[in-house]
Amino acid sequence: MKNILVIGSTGQIGSELTMKLRTTYPNGQVVAGYIPAAPPKGELAETGPCEIVDITDAKRIAELVDKYKIDTIYNLAALLSYVAEQKPQLAWHIGIGGLFNVLEVSREKNCAVFTPSSIGAFGDDTPKDKTPQDTLQRPKTMYGVTKVTGELLSDYYFKRFGVDTRSVRFPGLISNVTLPGGGTTDYAVEIYYAAVKGEKFVCPIKAGTYMDMMYMPDALRACVELMEADPTRLVHRNSFNIASMSFAPEHIYAAIKKIIPSFEMAYEVNEIRQAIAESWPNSLDDSCARKEWDWAPRYDLDTMSKDMIEILKKRL
Ligand SMILES: NC(=O)c1ccc[n+]([C@@H]2O[C@H](COP(=O)([O-])OP(=O)(O)OC[C@H]3O[C@@H](n4cnc5c(N)ncnc54)[C@H](O)[C@@H]3O)[C@@H](O)[C@H]2O)c1
Repeated sequence: MKNILVIGSTGQIGSELTMKLRTTYPNGQVVAGYIPAAPPKGELAETGPCEIVDITDAKRIAELVDKYKIDTIYNLAALLSYVAEQKPQLAWHIGIGGLFNVLEVSREKNCAVFTPSSIGAFGDDTPKDKTPQDTLQRPKTMYGVTKVTGELLSDYYFKRFGVDTRSVRFPGLISNVTLPGGGTTDYAVEIYYAAVKGEKFVCPIKAGTYMDMMYMPDALRACVELMEADPTRLVHRNSFNIASMSFAPEHIYAAIKKIIPSFEMAYEVNEIRQAIAESWPNSLDDSCARKEWDWAPRYDLDTMSKDMIEILKKRL
């Protein structure tokens, strides 16, 4: 039996991951942790316990771990890359102050911890193509600084205290349940909504800017498979490169246009987002994840586009 606390359960990933965990572990309790500004709705609110928990409040995290006999914490609270550049102090407070609280509670109460890192953990000096698992990480954004710090701190808690910390570096995630929370790859979600609504899409990222992306079902499976992986096989922990597709705006546009031929796109570049995008890798080498816990993606750009458009057509 698993009892899980998801902190930040109402965001783009949490709203779907919490539901996946509830179906994966039907005999356990999966608690949807949220802040009052972003309460759970619909099936997330109706299918299991929901509790207010601010990640900056260590006492509250400890209370919930005791109340539900939690053995695993999925820590999804963060400010995303674009928002973090507007509020760097708060991004550190939530990303690192919050992670420290989660790790301390987990050390005391013996919980496993999953905290996503990101392609934002790399910087301008990192090799851009097929970025290796172990490489130079000198990001210049606050988002990136929190992600590298989070990786190091999580590895420290594993080595020093034996806390079972594991993590993946997510690429930009494309999904159709909850809109993204202010990242650099948001355009790759918004473009599908525009296409299905019959609107022209104005792309904030320049043509030719490659970034790694992934469809949400693959990302959710990665979280669960890594947390279920045999620990004796894990050489790495925080964090694994995972990858499924790498494309530039013109490629996702072309993939959508194959299905919706009338779709149109123009460019109006946002300089802040563009600068962040250019500092990130074009594509990641995920061979360590494949070797150490059998990671393999199932979707590519075309199969994802077909699925996204079918689902959004029904909904919108
Ligand atoms: N979505 C992506 O494309 C992507 C890519 C790489 C990494 N990640 C990482 O995955 C994690 C989750 O991302 P997401 O896309 O779901 O983000 P999101 O912005 O959609 O959701 C973040 C959640 O954190 C909550 N939150 C904010 N402040 C909080 C606080 N003080 N205490 C508790 N909760 C708080 C928000 O209410 C929200 O539910 C983050 O660490 C993010 O950096 C996401």
